[in-house]
Amino acid sequence: MKTQYYTAASLDGFIATEDHSLEWLFSLSDINQSSYPEFIEQVGAMAMGSSTYEWMLRNADTINAQMGSPWPYTQPVWVFSHRVLSKIPHANIHYVQGDVREHHQQMIAAASDKNIWIVGGGDLAGQFYDAGLLDEIIIQVGSVTLGKGQPVFPRRVLSPALKLKSVQQMGEGMVELRYDLTNN
Ligand SMILES: NC(=O)c1ccc[n+]([C@@H]2O[C@H](COP(=O)([O-])OP(=O)(O)OC[C@H]3O[C@@H](n4cnc5c(N)ncnc54)[C@H](OP(=O)(O)O)[C@@H]3O)[C@@H](O)[C@H]2O)c1
Repeated sequence: MKTQYYTAASLDGFIATEDHSLEWLFSLSDINQSSYPEFIEQVGAMAMGSSTYEWMLRNADTINAQMGSPWPYTQPVWVFSHRVLSKIPHANIHYVQGDVREHHQQMIAAASDKNIWIVGGGDLAGQFYDAGLLDEIIIQVGSVTLGKGQPVFPRRVLSPALKLKSVQQMGEGMVELRYDLTNN
């Protein structure tokens, strides 16, 4: 079982524009031709911040068209927020806040030997990293730049550097980088 931050970023390190748009991403790759189907098969629990969750609420139609459902996850999802968020009927969602360590234990129990996916954003992934709970970072780097936006991983990681485990080209539009953090 691993705790993995799996995301897509622009070449200059942003996972969304300043106004939380992902339009730049959709033209770069077909999710069904990526590592995603194999990746999600191994995910037993997930975590996301409120901006990511609210993006899913706002873009339910797009998600439905791409994934066949506006809330395409069968796995339990922990949504982090200090606010009361709109609920999605029948979705298996835990609305939580505070120290990620307290919730990680519950995610492990719920994932039953599968992996835990930190969906994003970058700072939430950073909170798991700060607590020593992040095992892998998997980033699809798109061949575009945004100039500004929501950062992929707003942390300083210098020494030891991350260990690059694999590089997978996905056409001309993307490259997937996998980093192992287990000895960081
Ligand atoms: N490119 C990709 O593949 C990809 C993947 C994932 C997400 N995204 C996009 O990237 C953007 C990420 O937005 P973001 O950087 O703002 O990150 P986010 O993690 O989605 O949301 C951050 C917010 O979550 C809440 N939060 C975070 N940690 C918390 C904690 N420990 N306890 C309680 N609340 C906590 C806080 O808001 P409140 O307390 O005010 O609720 C915080 O401002 C979104 O637009 C999303 O759609 C892109």
